Amino acid sequence: MAKPVYTDDLSTQVIKVDRDSIHFSPEGKLSVTDTSTENALIKAAKILQQPGGVVAFPTETVYGLGGSSLCTESVKAIYAAKHRPADNPLISHISSIEMLRSKLLAPGQEIPEVYKPLIEKFWPGPLTIVLPVGDSNKSPISPAVTAHGPTFTVRMPVHPIARALISISGIPIAAPSANASTRPSPTQAAHVYHDLKGRIPLILDGGACDVGLESTVVDGTVDPPMLLRPGGVPMEKIKEVGGPFWQKIIHVKKVAGKNEPVRTPGMKYRHYSPTAQVVMFLNCGNGTDATHNYIAEHRLNGKKIALLRSKRFAEPEDGVFQVVRDLGRSGKAIQKNMFAELREVDELGVDYIFVEGVPEDHEGLAIMNRLTKASSVIVDGGKETIRGRD
Ligand code: TXA
Ligand code: MG
Repeated sequence: MAKPVYTDDLSTQVIKVDRDSIHFSPEGKLSVTDTSTENALIKAAKILQQPGGVVAFPTETVYGLGGSSLCTESVKAIYAAKHRPADNPLISHISSIEMLRSKLLAPGQEIPEVYKPLIEKFWPGPLTIVLPVGDSNKSPISPAVTAHGPTFTVRMPVHPIARALISISGIPIAAPSANASTRPSPTQAAHVYHDLKGRIPLILDGGACDVGLESTVVDGTVDPPMLLRPGGVPMEKIKEVGGPFWQKIIHVKKVAGKNEPVRTPGMKYRHYSPTAQVVMFLNCGNGTDATHNYIAEHRLNGKKIALLRSKRFAEPEDGVFQVVRDLGRSGKAIQKNMFAELREVDELGVDYIFVEGVPEDHEGLAIMNRLTKASSVIVDGGKETIRGRD
């Protein structure tokens, strides 16, 4: 039996790949014009075809850590490399609808009708759907992917490197975000290297991710349908194109306590946490009074503090903050920059990261979902809530 890759003392190779050299025809046929990109994709695909083989690769949302959805040894290698709790299931990634039908659905199983308008509009792209596993004796999916649950999740990424890698390997790829568990999700190859070097054999470096946070996860197997995780496709868009059924979509409780039953296991874990303490400011106007008051009340003078501004915060006076970064004004820009900036200012060794919250509509819902989980304290207007770090 092949030695599981994750237990080896590995050096992690990072190979640059050129996304612009990869093309899919409207029928889904792949062509790669740059030889070194093609060689890197073939190398990565060969690793994925080995039991226990895992590779990190870019998607349009965040970098993923992939392994075969059909091989328990590979899925276990993913959990081990990330230190991810085994009860938090993984999303399977496909390069075509045909792959979903032939490699993930059990014999006789169909894609539920309710998903047709969403698949039509949002695939390939940052939307993940929940499907029943059906008869687990017939399902080809490793039970480690679903954490032995009755459902599985799937999406078709639009990023050419992700789609080409899946297509060349010929297998559906289970891939969580390629960060160490509890850390902010990686949007650049360097973030993956920081968290997982020595734990995985290969990172395909395709530059920065366009969306910058993870896919939207929806469950249409229940009525009313549920938004399990806000993400790259805003809920408003799902309502807009999904017809009457999807207009009823409910956003499940944003954060669940440890002992409560949860709809999506990812909700109950500590997430997206830099080493510095994150304090989020909401409904605080231009931020000047609220941030100054917080510093005074908590005697933070002399501490190193980073400020991440977005839509409304004013340029602060000199000397208050060690670092000041603009996340951008639009939802799309904030979404793209947020994880990278959390990581970057954390690397500068600050004690606190103050971040400006945004209204919870359109991209704002997913942004606030991530920022809320990353924060240990939320200051809403004048009121302060301690979230606790675990
Ligand atoms: O954009 C993305 O979705 C990225 C890229 C790599 O594709 N992947 C990603 O995976 O974010 P991960 O593992 O970090 O987050 C998957 C989320 C978790 O919250 C998990 O609990 C939920 O999806 N999930 C997975 N399978 C599920 C299932 N069968 N039922 C409910 N929730 C599920
Ligand atoms: Mg994740």
